[in-house]
Amino acid sequence: MNPSSTHSPIGVFDSGVGGLSVLRALRAELPGQPLIYIADQAHVPYGPRPLEEVRAFSEGITRFLIDQGARLVVVACNAASAAALSSLRSTFPAIPFVGMEPAVKPAAENSASRVVAVLATPATFQGALYASVVERFANGVTLLQDTCPGLVAEIENGGLKSRHTRRILAQTLEPMLAQGADTVVLGCTHYPFVIPLIEQIAGPGVRVIDPAPAVARQARRMLENSSEPLRPAPSTPPREWFYTTGDPQKFSKALRELIQLEAPVGQLHWRGLTLSA
Ligand code: DGL
Repeated sequence: MNPSSTHSPIGVFDSGVGGLSVLRALRAELPGQPLIYIADQAHVPYGPRPLEEVRAFSEGITRFLIDQGARLVVVACNAASAAALSSLRSTFPAIPFVGMEPAVKPAAENSASRVVAVLATPATFQGALYASVVERFANGVTLLQDTCPGLVAEIENGGLKSRHTRRILAQTLEPMLAQGADTVVLGCTHYPFVIPLIEQIAGPGVRVIDPAPAVARQARRMLENSSEPLRPAPSTPPREWFYTTGDPQKFSKALRELIQLEAPVGQLHWRGLTLSA
């Protein structure tokens, strides 16, 4: 079914399953709004790739979402936001975008120890967006950064509680905690799915910041200010479309396990830098 035949959907994308942490918050904040989600699992992970490559993928996905009638695009990926958010805004000036940036501001404002751990992928740490967030908001707070190598792949494979995931997180967090970190910023949308493990390792005195609810509120504000009215919460389930450039069965399983959703998943293919069904 073509989403553009109904109310225009909100387009959401990520390299894989991570953006589902944002989709979950969007569904809670905007019940009944049609959504279309694209997981670029043919290219996951984005984090270690050059920013220009991630930018090209992000443009191809955005073009596809706009062709499907998307009224707003949520870049539910810190790496893609770092690589592409500003170029997406200038390439597609008619479309409003909501992007992700590590939540350094609320972390720095609330950290009592003035030591904050930031977990994100290499692309996010390299991008100008992160440098600007640090410059504007770190405010004398010490930021301890780590790219958690292998964690995105482990979450993609469903290893939310696996021994490997626990080892990666413990190796990352223990030195940060020893240096006094009292706040952990999740600068990758995959990571909220391992919050229970992070909390177990970090203990009760440490605050973990998942930016998804704030991003969903930002999407709501942008829609409220747009010309097309927000769709009222319907009695029937919302229309949602899911696509992957990887394996649809594997993505269906992730939908079930990560956000308890049963939904069909379509297959998309890259032809050069153009995405099509
Ligand atoms: N979920 C993504 C992010 O927020 C991308 C992870 C990856 O593909 O490396 O950065």
